[in-house]
Amino acid sequence: MGFLANFVSPMVAEVTGLDCGKPTPPEDLARLKQLFLEHPVVCIRDQILGAREQGAFARQWGLLEAQDRSAFCHPDDTDVLILSNDRRPDGSQIGIVDAGDFWHSDSSHLSEPCRITMLHSVKNPAKGGDTHFIDMRAVYDAMPEDLKKRVAGLNAIHHVSKTLNPRVAVSTERAGAAEYYKQREKETKPVAQPMVRTQPETGRQALYISPRFTIGIEGMDDAQAQPLLDELFRFMFSNPIWQYTHKWRDGDLVFWDNSCLNHMAGGGYEYPDVRRMHRSTIAGDRPFYRAA
Ligand code: OGA
Ligand code: MN
Repeated sequence: MGFLANFVSPMVAEVTGLDCGKPTPPEDLARLKQLFLEHPVVCIRDQILGAREQGAFARQWGLLEAQDRSAFCHPDDTDVLILSNDRRPDGSQIGIVDAGDFWHSDSSHLSEPCRITMLHSVKNPAKGGDTHFIDMRAVYDAMPEDLKKRVAGLNAIHHVSKTLNPRVAVSTERAGAAEYYKQREKETKPVAQPMVRTQPETGRQALYISPRFTIGIEGMDDAQAQPLLDELFRFMFSNPIWQYTHKWRDGDLVFWDNSCLNHMAGGGYEYPDVRRMHRSTIAGDRPFYRAA
């Protein structure tokens, strides 16, 4: 029952006095889950965790997704993915270098996107490496009524390939990235997602689009759809009060709710200044919109 929670903002809670390396006592877990519904970014400070402990902590929140980039899975728990710019002596990458370099909600290009992403900060660079968040519930709540009406019940088209999306660019830091996305463009079907997503547990609505994955609107010509998306993106970036920048400390375990946030890696660091994160993702259900 021991942990302390500090409410940083409506979006963010900071937790101290909890050891995620041990099974979480049921009362603490219940309290943490409630906290997480209110504050969709939770940072638990000062965690000394191996990949195995992180995996065990994450499994208390639901089914873990298998990671699709097997070369970068952690050998101690293959459900944990390494994000890093570190290299082996032969120059090869030890982890994913360009994760999250544009605003997005994780795996919204899949019909059942992951619900929760957990990142454990193993090593922070001396400079940069922040993660930015936008509270898409607050964005939705602040939208003018007529804009809410224009998007209610619509589905947006999401796609994983960066080469289909003029709002993003392919990272030059990752060898073969352009070929990879060209291949994904051919192999992967677009997925329709509700533009307004209802959080199942609370009924709260969030705008559910992102510059990274949203490329169109179902049943609408681009001549209408692209200006509407531009208007929505302009709106979501129009007020810094909806944003939070996480400045990592080594040992932070941060997890967020992809149903109601956009996030982005801030970058701004360079090898040999190493950043290393361990990532696990908890599976989610099919997103839906239920009118209030
Ligand atoms: C992710 C992600 C951002 C970061 O892991 O899904 O977007 O700052 N990471 O590493
Ligand atoms: Mn991400």
